[in-house]
Amino acid sequence: MFMMNYFDYSATTPISDRVNEVMQRCERDFFANINAKHELAQQSNIFVSGYIHRMIQALNITESSLVFTSGATESNNMILFGLANTYPHKRHILTTSLEHHSMISPLGVLQKQGYDIEFIPHINGELDLDYLKTSIREDTLLVSVIAVESETGMIHPLKKIKAICDEHNVPLHSDMTQAIGKIEVDLQDITYASFSSHKIYGPKGIGACIIQKQDIKPLIVGGRSLSKLRAGTPPNALIVGFAQALLDSLEHLKERQIIVSQRHQSLVEQLKHFDQIHFNQPKQGVNHICNLSISNSKRDQSVEKLSLYGCYTSASSACSGQEELSKAVFCITQNQDYASTSIRISLSHKTKQEEIDDLVNAIKKVINL
Ligand SMILES: Cc1ncc(COP(=O)(O)O)c(C=O)c1O
Repeated sequence: MFMMNYFDYSATTPISDRVNEVMQRCERDFFANINAKHELAQQSNIFVSGYIHRMIQALNITESSLVFTSGATESNNMILFGLANTYPHKRHILTTSLEHHSMISPLGVLQKQGYDIEFIPHINGELDLDYLKTSIREDTLLVSVIAVESETGMIHPLKKIKAICDEHNVPLHSDMTQAIGKIEVDLQDITYASFSSHKIYGPKGIGACIIQKQDIKPLIVGGRSLSKLRAGTPPNALIVGFAQALLDSLEHLKERQIIVSQRHQSLVEQLKHFDQIHFNQPKQGVNHICNLSISNSKRDQSVEKLSLYGCYTSASSACSGQEELSKAVFCITQNQDYASTSIRISLSHKTKQEEIDDLVNAIKKVINL
């Protein structure tokens, strides 16, 4: 393989060797449709169910609350449209402007259908909880707040938000794609959550919803599956791969966090003295996402130059396309220059110190040092 220093782990991760092994074993020995009646189907069912059971225990949720989907995009769509179908008279949704496109786009569809989509503002980079308190209405369908914003790593205070939602008897959804398996989360803090396998060293093409309240109408109907909420033949190998990835990420959470924090600190220490660099650090942020601005170099330009030096970063979240200004960076800094020159460096426990040193040297070249 060609030499590369990968710093785009928040866009996607490679599958781990362990995940690869269990998936291959599953495809080879336990590939039968787990809803069929023959012996291989039963053995496949035992194999797959064992992994699902361990996943449920690790997440501390009930079996019926876990619904497999094709990824967080589908989970977000399922929750929004599924809830809208259940409660057609509730047409107000409170959310934030920092949601991922897989929320913003379906919210736009609902808005075109006449839904009132209201964005809870941020004040000095923090979500305005007083605004939330006074904005929940009789017809509020949902409050939806991303757990960890994907460009800057800003953490939203879900516990406090859930307490407000509970007071008003309104459900809370959180897109936890950048949180689960990366930081500690308490799933009691949400009514519905979305997350994805390929962000935590599992396969692409599978994710899940956690549905603590069983009131969502299915979007995909058809043949028997694992849940009434999502029809289709269960993808055995994707499920066990996802489960293994999740189990590994939860089991090794602390040690992974320590490595990631050391790499983040090293990057900051080595670059903070340069006038051309500004770190866009949220008040409450994760270590696996580091956002910085390089003065006089547009976002895409910096990413392209760094790529030429073998360092793969991103201008924003991969799904957001080419936005010239980062909403998330502007939210934190209130500074247009920082927002138009920011890049995201996303880190992993797999990131080596030498890779950070290479990145520092590459950034120095970009700023002509
Ligand atoms: C916060 C967030 N939500 C949703 C998604 C979409 O996930 P998936 O690729 O599994 O559909 C992503 C991926 O970039 C993400 O970062």
